[in-house]
Amino acid sequence: MANKKGLTPASSRSPATGSPAPSGATRPTTTGAGTTSGSPAPSGATTASIVHPETPLEEDRGDLSLRPRYLQEFLGQAAMKENLSVFISAAKQRKESLDHLFLIGPPGLGKTTLAQVVANELGVDFKVTSAPALDKPKDLAGILTTVTEGTVFFIDEIHRLKPTIEEMLYIAMEDYELDWIIGQGPSARTIRIPIPPFTLVGATTKAGMVSSPLISRFGITCRFSFYEQADMEAIVHRSAGILKVSIDDDAAALIASSSRGTPRVANRLLRRMRDFAQVLEQGHISRRVVQEGLKRLEIDSLGLERYDREILKIIIERYNGGPVGAETLAISVGEAVDTLEDYYEPYLIQAGLLQRTPRGRMVTPFAYEHLNLERNSNGNNGLLF
Ligand SMILES: Nc1ncnc2c1ncn2[C@@H]1O[C@H](COP(=O)(O)OP(=O)(O)OP(=O)(O)O)[C@@H](O)[C@H]1O
Ligand SMILES: [Mg+2]
Repeated sequence: MANKKGLTPASSRSPATGSPAPSGATRPTTTGAGTTSGSPAPSGATTASIVHPETPLEEDRGDLSLRPRYLQEFLGQAAMKENLSVFISAAKQRKESLDHLFLIGPPGLGKTTLAQVVANELGVDFKVTSAPALDKPKDLAGILTTVTEGTVFFIDEIHRLKPTIEEMLYIAMEDYELDWIIGQGPSARTIRIPIPPFTLVGATTKAGMVSSPLISRFGITCRFSFYEQADMEAIVHRSAGILKVSIDDDAAALIASSSRGTPRVANRLLRRMRDFAQVLEQGHISRRVVQEGLKRLEIDSLGLERYDREILKIIIERYNGGPVGAETLAISVGEAVDTLEDYYEPYLIQAGLLQRTPRGRMVTPFAYEHLNLERNSNGNNGLLF
């Protein structure tokens, strides 16, 4: 079956044509060090957004130096890290590939970083792509035909895989084989091409949208949670060290607590504070600089930006605190439902400002308190908080 002409990945089989072959090893869309874009930018998000980890900022590309390369540098998420470190050591001792790994968590918490860390710890190749880049089965085939023994193959936004690609991936994950079709029409037949054992690392911000057959093929699942204050402080100090900027402990603590438990946000805020410090205080980041900087950026003590406060205010002022359905709310704030659910709500919920209930979204008494608003006495129970 050396003749690659007429080879078609089986899952791309089209009854009418049997589409033409990928020409040998199709070049993978993205491999090696370069990552494809992360999550899509929320349609209505301000491009100047600092605390929204999903908004790609140009300077994040210079973030590579801040990205931890080994588990030891990867701060926080202690329980997850400990287990992972055991699984990695065991796989290395057995000289086997690590089981497929599923990473779940909101943007900016370190999923891509961890995938790269795993490859470094295992000492194997790292290949990167994201589900939207895998348009045709040949795109996936192109990457799978280049994996070497133990390669860590990272697919970002795995909830966006097309069904044909997903089917092909099942076989690759389970049997380490590529399903191909030779020929066309009635005489077409399927062959399987072996590929070396590899580790698929799939990352998603929306675990609920990943099909159960795919989930069941991952041997290890890591769920990221927002980082604790102490871990965030450690991350700020580490990044300040790498950026060679001096920072007081109480200033680092304030950046940490204003960063929504999200390392990407902490790194961005740190860079902004470095700018303010350069102009205001000869480059040293003191608590005063951070307080002033946060004020100028309109970021409050919980790390909310003006837009987050707008969402809460709309629920309070237009819907009397809720409940209001996600779709109605999304229209009111001028966002897509997905964006609202994926990017804005998780932290508002985590911070105890918003609740998802079966009847819709509701703000909590803490939201009124935080925004310094009183509950309307026409409300459901007419109580003032
Ligand atoms: N545990 C950590 N310790 C130190 N820094 C971290 C950690 N996790 C993430 N970071 C920093 O945060 C940045 C964002 O992390 P990363 O890009 O891995 O997030 P992500 O979960 O993949 O986000 P997205 O869902 O948007 O793709 C990294 O560049 C890195 O500098
Ligand atoms: Mg990522």
